[in-house]
Amino acid sequence: MASPGSSAPGGVAVVGSGLIGRSWAMLFASAGFRVKLFDIEPRQVTDALVSLRKEMKMLELSGYLKGELGAEEQLSLISGCSDLREAVEGALHVQECVPENLELKRKLFAQLDKIADDHVILSSSSSCLLPSKLFAGLAHVKQCLVAHPVNPPYYVPLVELVPHPETAPATMDRTYALMRRVGQSPVRLLREIDGFALNRLQYAVIAEAWRLVEEGVVSPGDLDLVMSDGLGLRYAFIGPLETMHLNAEGMLSYCDRYGEGMKRVLKTFGPVPEFSGATAEKVHQAMCVKVPDDAEHLAARRAWRDGCLMRLAQLKHQLPQ
Ligand code: NAI
Repeated sequence: MASPGSSAPGGVAVVGSGLIGRSWAMLFASAGFRVKLFDIEPRQVTDALVSLRKEMKMLELSGYLKGELGAEEQLSLISGCSDLREAVEGALHVQECVPENLELKRKLFAQLDKIADDHVILSSSSSCLLPSKLFAGLAHVKQCLVAHPVNPPYYVPLVELVPHPETAPATMDRTYALMRRVGQSPVRLLREIDGFALNRLQYAVIAEAWRLVEEGVVSPGDLDLVMSDGLGLRYAFIGPLETMHLNAEGMLSYCDRYGEGMKRVLKTFGPVPEFSGATAEKVHQAMCVKVPDDAEHLAARRAWRDGCLMRLAQLKHQLPQ
C-alpha cells in the first residue's frame, strides 16, 4: 500500500465543510491528495473531521472505501484550517462548497481572487448559479469554473463542468483530468445554460411526472415505479440517446420508426406545473405513507438510498463498460 507522503501529488483546498465539502474531501483524499478543509464556522470543520473519520472507517470495514490507501492514511491527508489564505496557499485546486447564495459566493470568490496565484483552479460546487454571474469581474476568471457534483458525490460520480465565457480551455482540461483522477465521471458543458444539463433533464422528468399525477392518469406511487422499476434500471447503465440507438437498428432507424410517434406524444405535454395546491398535498400525502416526513424516517430512508447507491456504484465498477 502506498504511503500518503509518497502519493500526495499536491494540495486541494475545500472551502465550506458541510455535506458537499465533506464528500469532496473524501474523494480527493481517496486519490492521495492533501486536503485543507476551511469553513467560516470553525465548529463545522471540527465536526467534519469527526464525521469523516467515522464514515471512512465504516466504509473501510464494509469494503467500500475508495482508493488504494487505507482509511487512516487517507484521514492523515485531511486537515482542518481556520484561515482561508492558509488553506488556499500552494493549492492546485480550490473547491468552493458554501451555501447556494449568489451574494455569498460572489463575496467569497472576490476574496479568493485576491489570494489566488495564476495557476490555481477556482471551482464552485454550485448546483444552479451561472458562471457568468458567479465569476463576473474576477481578475482570475480564466481559472474559474463550476464543477457541479451530484448528491451523494462519493457514490454518484457525475460532475458537470460548466465554463464562464472567459474560462480558459486549460482550466476545463485540468479539472476534467483531476475529476477522472479522483474516480469521478466529468462531463463538459460547452457553454453555460440555466439548470446545466442534469437539472434540465431532471426537471423535464419531474414536470411530466407531476402532470400525469395532476391529471389523474397514475397514482404518485405508481409514477415513481415507472422510473425505479423501469426507465431507471436502464438509465443506470446507458443514457437516453444510446437507448434510442439500441432500441432499433441504430439511431437513424429509431428516428425513422419512432420519430413521428415521439412528436405526437410530445405535443400533448401540458404547461409548466405550479408545484403547489391540491396536487402538492396529494403527492405529499402519498410520499408520507411510504416515508413519514419526520427527521428520523427521512434520515433512515436516505441512509437506505445511499447504501443502494454504494452497492450499485461497486457493481458498475465491476462490470465491463
Ligand atoms: P451546507 O449548508 O451543508 O454547507 C455549507 C457550509 O459552508 C457550512 O458548513 C457553512 O458554515 C459554510 N460556509 C458558509 N459561508 C462560508 C464562507 N464564507 N466561507 C467558508 N465556509 C462558509 O451546504 P451543501 O449542501 O454542502 O452545499 C454546498 C454547495 O454545494 C451549494 O452550492 C450547493 O448548491 C452545492 N450542491 C449541493 C448538493 C446537495 O445535494 N446538498 C448537490 C450538489 C451541489
